[in-house]
Amino acid sequence: MKPARRRRNGAVIAAIGMLVLAAAGTLLHVYRHPTLDAGTAPTLDIIDAQRAVVGQYHTPSAEEIASLGNADAVMLGRRLLNETARLLPDNVGNDLNCNSCHMAEGKRPFGNHYLNTGGGSYPRYMTRPGREIGLVERINGCLQRSMNGTPLARDAPQMRAMLEYMAWLSRTVPDGARVAAAGEGPIDSSLRPDRTRGHALYAAQCAACHGDNGEGRRDGSGDIAFPPLWGERSFNIGAGMARLYKAASFVKHNMPPAASRAPPLGQQVMPDQDAVDIADYFIHQPRPDFTGKGKDWPHDPKPKDARY
Ligand code: HEC
Ligand code: HEC
Repeated sequence: MKPARRRRNGAVIAAIGMLVLAAAGTLLHVYRHPTLDAGTAPTLDIIDAQRAVVGQYHTPSAEEIASLGNADAVMLGRRLLNETARLLPDNVGNDLNCNSCHMAEGKRPFGNHYLNTGGGSYPRYMTRPGREIGLVERINGCLQRSMNGTPLARDAPQMRAMLEYMAWLSRTVPDGARVAAAGEGPIDSSLRPDRTRGHALYAAQCAACHGDNGEGRRDGSGDIAFPPLWGERSFNIGAGMARLYKAASFVKHNMPPAASRAPPLGQQVMPDQDAVDIADYFIHQPRPDFTGKGKDWPHDPKPKDARY
């Protein structure tokens, strides 16, 4: 081969190489969010209204979305839940994504999962609003409180897409049945919190990721890597996560994030008292107010850890 042609071929190969690298970079950018995938997810029982086991639930992996008839909508829903702050800037008022709290894309038992959400859990009566609400309103509740933002219209394509993702997770569960997995893990709610101890535990176990001032941290491309736990850019006082035992349960069963909690590779399980103390510390740091709070629990008794 003549040297000139060899140079030209070299340039073409280099250009192709750059394109491949750029494409891989884009894919990584889209898919780098942590996912608990089917391989590591447990098989869960499907139970009927009498709690009899009527089948087994296989936690679907994201790759399975591609073969669906409505793949585009489900994939959009998945992205919206993972990258909410970036994709819905008009509706999100802080630096959180939905899946900052709905762990592993809403597939993890004890991690505020969505496994039953789209499968007949709504409409249902809830004590906080004191009436029956549908799933759209439930999602908008998290937008206004957990995301300190504004609701999406019922027929907005983004709302429809999130509903399609949730329905996909429940697609193999028969009518009237549900996946036997709690959204919140057990926590001893008779424990009294020690906030001073919680501060010390926070500094030792949480501040490395969430910051000394709970401010969180962004990654090199400006996306949220570690979400804020308090301050103007965190969830407001009306959020479920602002309640002591909900926060303690979340922390005990999900933090620090790890793919497995089982020995020998999983992390050590946090004692309930530590989780309650840490939660008491961070939920009571300054955070946005929620203007609609006066309307909560209009008929039913307030939970004992309600903040107002
Ligand atoms: C700060 C944490 C946090 C964030 C961020 C968050 N949520 Fe939630 N969400 C919760 C908690 C905790 C619950 C459980 C119940 C509660 O609020 O008491 C919940 C409950 C839900 C439920 C009810 C699930 C069921 O099966 O009944 C849905 C649906 C939901 N969230 C959707 C969303 C969506 C969509 C977003 C983003 C727009 C979002 N959440 C953001 C913490 C959060
Ligand atoms: C290794 C880094 C790391 C450590 C250590 C860690 N977290 Fe997190 N935390 C995360 C990530 C990442 C998320 C978002 C979930 C996701 O993206 O899967 C998160 C989410 C949260 C959330 C819900 C979202 C929010 O901002 O309110 C709370 C609450 C939380 N962590 C509390 C804690 C507490 C308390 C500790 C200490 C016991 C802790 N975390 C330790 C990385 C960490």
